[in-house]
Amino acid sequence: MELKNDLLLRAAKGETVERTPVWVMRQAGRILPEYRAVRAKLSGFKELVETPELACEVTLQPVDLLGVDAAIIFSDILVIPEAMGLEYQMIKGKGPIFEETIRSEADLSKIHVSHPDELSYVTDAIRLTKKELNGRVPLIGFAGAPWTIFAYMVEGSGSKTFSEARKVLYQQPELAHKVLGMITDSTIAYLRAQVNAGADLIQLFDSWAGILPQEQYEEFSASYIRKIVEQIQDVPTTVFAKGAYRALPLFANMSCNTIGLDWNMDIENAKKVVGTGKTLQGNLDPCLLYSDTKTIEAETKKMLQKFGDHRHIANLGHGVYPDTNPDHVKCFIETIQSFEK
Ligand code: CP3
Repeated sequence: MELKNDLLLRAAKGETVERTPVWVMRQAGRILPEYRAVRAKLSGFKELVETPELACEVTLQPVDLLGVDAAIIFSDILVIPEAMGLEYQMIKGKGPIFEETIRSEADLSKIHVSHPDELSYVTDAIRLTKKELNGRVPLIGFAGAPWTIFAYMVEGSGSKTFSEARKVLYQQPELAHKVLGMITDSTIAYLRAQVNAGADLIQLFDSWAGILPQEQYEEFSASYIRKIVEQIQDVPTTVFAKGAYRALPLFANMSCNTIGLDWNMDIENAKKVVGTGKTLQGNLDPCLLYSDTKTIEAETKKMLQKFGDHRHIANLGHGVYPDTNPDHVKCFIETIQSFEK
């Protein structure tokens, strides 16, 4: 299927584009009343994730309603730990909770390297969504980076510090490497299945990158990210490591195409560190969308000017917050799509 709008893919590969493409992390979600309406009829978040027709429906919503240049398949990074053997519940107001965790060698008996067949609801949703998109825009597939997935598997929930997960790195580094290796193998097979099902680009989310010191980041996170991007060669790949400024030079030397920047990262500095060999993605402060549309327009233009001629995919510096006015998200998107350099 020929894509009618392939700006995202061309920008990711460093080819010339008529204008900067834009999508929004967490665009398929609670900012849209249409999402909340679908979600309200269900037993919970997981029913939405695990029912391909419904996942497809909410994946298409931001394409139809916001006019973004890419869809991202509706799912969650936590499907991998679940397929590996640790079931999670998504609790309203609390976030994800795992009843079982990995904190000792004995706990390894609870998990296995997952097979993509265990996540067929995701690949089915991708196939269905590709059909429904009918080439309008590319479809992004994704997974969590191994360190971020490990953090949830050890901690058992979200956390400000992830100190249980960080404790394992200091007290049982061999256990950490065993689990990270298993997550990495599960993720490579899973992402390849996403590509086979039709995903046009793959993004890795390392949401908890920012809490590790440099040497540990290299040993326990970046080395596994490198392995994954080396194994995904048929489609462009994006690495987004929140808070990991010092990871930029590491990513610059990996085989990924695009590097995501959070809103704290200085654009000028990132351009210098990364060089012209990669595309940069980001990085407007998600909270800026709480201001008025005049300010949003002005700040979005300022961001575009800072990226200048550098290879760029516009996005926020992290996922959009659920209480953001969708019209303000639209203002951000339209400002980018009508910007003339
Ligand atoms: O539009 C999209 O970006 C696609 C869907 C998507 C979701 N989660 C849906 C979701 C994506 C790409 C994710 C990734 C994800 N999930 C990350 C990495 C990105 C990041 O934000 O750093 C992480 C850390 C998770 C884990 C996760 N999922 C948490 C901590 C929570 C609870 C907090 C929250 O935002 O409510 C979720 C739930 C979740 N994932 C929701 C959505 C739309 C909200 C659940 C609901 O509708 O009730």
